[in-house]
Amino acid sequence: MTKTTNASGVGTAINRVEGHLKVMGKAKYASEFPVENKVYGQGINSTIAKGEIISIDTSKAEKLDGVLKIITYKNAEKLKDFDKEMTPIATDTIAPVLQSNKVHYYGEYVGLVVAETFEQAQYAASLVKFEYKKDPSAVIDFEKSKSKAYTPDNGTNYSRGNMEQGLSEADVVVEQTYNTPIEHHHPMELHAVIASWDNGKVTAYSSQQIVEDAKIAISSTFQIPKKDVRVISAFVGGGFGSKLNLDRHVIMGVMASKMVGRPVQVTVTRTQMFTNTNMRQQNEQKMRVGAKKDGTLTALSHETLSHTATNQEYQEPCGMVSKMLYKVPNNEVTYKLIPMNIQVPFAMRAPGEATGSFALESAMDEMAWKLKMDPLEFRIKNDTQTDLHENRPFSSRLLVECLRIGADKFGWKDRKSEPRTNKKGNWLIGYGVSAASRNSPYQKTYSKVILKLDEDKVFATIQMDATDIGTGSYTIIAQTASEYLKIPVEQVSVELGDSDFPITPGSGGSWGAASYCNGARAACENAIKTLKNNRNIKEEEDITVSELLKKNQLTKFEAEGMAEPSAEFEKYSVFSFGANFCEVWVDKDTGMYRIEKMVNVASAGKILNPKTAYGQIIGGLTMGVGMVMAEQTHVEPNFGNFITRSFADYHVPVNLDMANIDVIFLPEEDKVANKMGIKGIGELGITSVAASIANAIFNATGKRMRSLPITPEKLIVAGLEPGITA
Ligand code: MOS
Repeated sequence: MTKTTNASGVGTAINRVEGHLKVMGKAKYASEFPVENKVYGQGINSTIAKGEIISIDTSKAEKLDGVLKIITYKNAEKLKDFDKEMTPIATDTIAPVLQSNKVHYYGEYVGLVVAETFEQAQYAASLVKFEYKKDPSAVIDFEKSKSKAYTPDNGTNYSRGNMEQGLSEADVVVEQTYNTPIEHHHPMELHAVIASWDNGKVTAYSSQQIVEDAKIAISSTFQIPKKDVRVISAFVGGGFGSKLNLDRHVIMGVMASKMVGRPVQVTVTRTQMFTNTNMRQQNEQKMRVGAKKDGTLTALSHETLSHTATNQEYQEPCGMVSKMLYKVPNNEVTYKLIPMNIQVPFAMRAPGEATGSFALESAMDEMAWKLKMDPLEFRIKNDTQTDLHENRPFSSRLLVECLRIGADKFGWKDRKSEPRTNKKGNWLIGYGVSAASRNSPYQKTYSKVILKLDEDKVFATIQMDATDIGTGSYTIIAQTASEYLKIPVEQVSVELGDSDFPITPGSGGSWGAASYCNGARAACENAIKTLKNNRNIKEEEDITVSELLKKNQLTKFEAEGMAEPSAEFEKYSVFSFGANFCEVWVDKDTGMYRIEKMVNVASAGKILNPKTAYGQIIGGLTMGVGMVMAEQTHVEPNFGNFITRSFADYHVPVNLDMANIDVIFLPEEDKVANKMGIKGIGELGITSVAASIANAIFNATGKRMRSLPITPEKLIVAGLEPGITA
């Protein structure tokens, strides 16, 4: 085992290595690359939810200065289309666009105008007139369409034991439904592409989380060889799941470039980001929980009703957390989807756990209250070191430690269990807790290291197609190289986000850090090993890389490496765990509330850089607060468009909304997870926020808020006066 070299190796809270580039405006996002001769494409969106285009009038737009091409289904290139009626969406799914006169949802792309300038393209797009034949059978009202729900055929329904028997053995039963609305990712960097078609070869500067999958999506949509596609995504201004897959603006950009013979930039506007870049779907989660008087869980079921598009299927795995978090012998998880005429939802900010934990951890709090047990002790009583869903042990699970340490730091012992007993003037004060958990995948990653000797100094460059979506990938990869090559981090450069570099799984699902760093580690270890072998130097001999290069009479040397999960990894369930404690103050007259304090504890394996890890957790907490206080997208029930169309009406938390936050990382290295002991942390933070706040609001007011977002209006309607039960 290599010891941490400190100062710059893994575990050190160094500043971001790309920080300077960022503040100087030199870290280029997709649309900022100075591609010569480029022109601009502006997408046009449908204004009906279902039906057909019956006529298109492009005459006015065509006459405008600068307009080069207007592309609709009439002149678009024929692309690969879905093979079946309901294709599941994945990170490498094809993205056919402008293929027919059929409209599936309000806002679907129906055209693209290409012009010399962005303004010309936008204005011309507004002049293209579409006439539609509306199909009155459009499904746009979730509440009224529940009878249309079907069970998706993806094998995710699950049961163990016997749910009904478990409920009959229970002394106390909680049966409640929790609602969460449609939410949108809204990274600050708009989705954008600069696409060039050059003699059958495609280059796309595109804001993506996974460049390899973007490359696959382009090559399969156009049915061209993968080797002829290059995707570059060097810096990404946030993704949160919306850039995991390739969206249709990229395909339109490539198609347009092929048609006009020049590079085409297509930027998705903030308003289009509601309809053309995925979202989280509305979920109705029904929970049934049974427990003995002493707090032993006997039964737990989690039924999710949600929706998908009419031509593509996505189902958020809300019930995942209920399968594995607690020791409960009888367990059932089911899903139903309503096909609706709105765009297909996709993964967003801890898909499954963020919404599922709100339902589960609220229901756990309701049960603890009914049992008159401390909600903390109730969770601890039902802890398990075995994942009963997979029937295998957790590689490491410090949930109880997270709860105990967090409670101590937070001052949980001062909590008054009876609601409405902690008051200060107009404020009703409450404390709440929720457990956090997030699957911690780790995937095959290739990497290359290039060593250069300059005098006595070794400079290293690490290359891989990994992305940095604002998380700090550049920094932790540089730290890893510094650690394993034993050179200062200042002598390491990291080059990412180019599909010509070795393949990684990209950024998503909290697998980035573990995968990237182990990939970089493998390349560095291979370099050293090869340099030693070449000169018959024993593997265990302690010799610097600079001496090794000299002994090899080399001034430059390259090595590749690959890391992947071990056979042992497959024998365990690998999750990160945590807990969030929250103090909420609710104004008893206005229903306004503020989050006074949060203590978050995370157990996520080796913390590579406390600064970037802290950023991940507070980012997650902020998104969690967004879920609770503000974020929701409204569907207009007659036309099926989103009423929420900008940041003026889609609200996200600002600094003032956030509490005093303490983040604690438990010291841990999970060597089952991978050689470096890393687990995922990107999504852990968000999973426990919603329930901890809702539970704190109950403790403050005696009102159970089971529908997100929890607005002051909902609190007023619930009636903040004593004795009225929501
Ligand atoms: Mo994440 S929702 O896998 O970017």
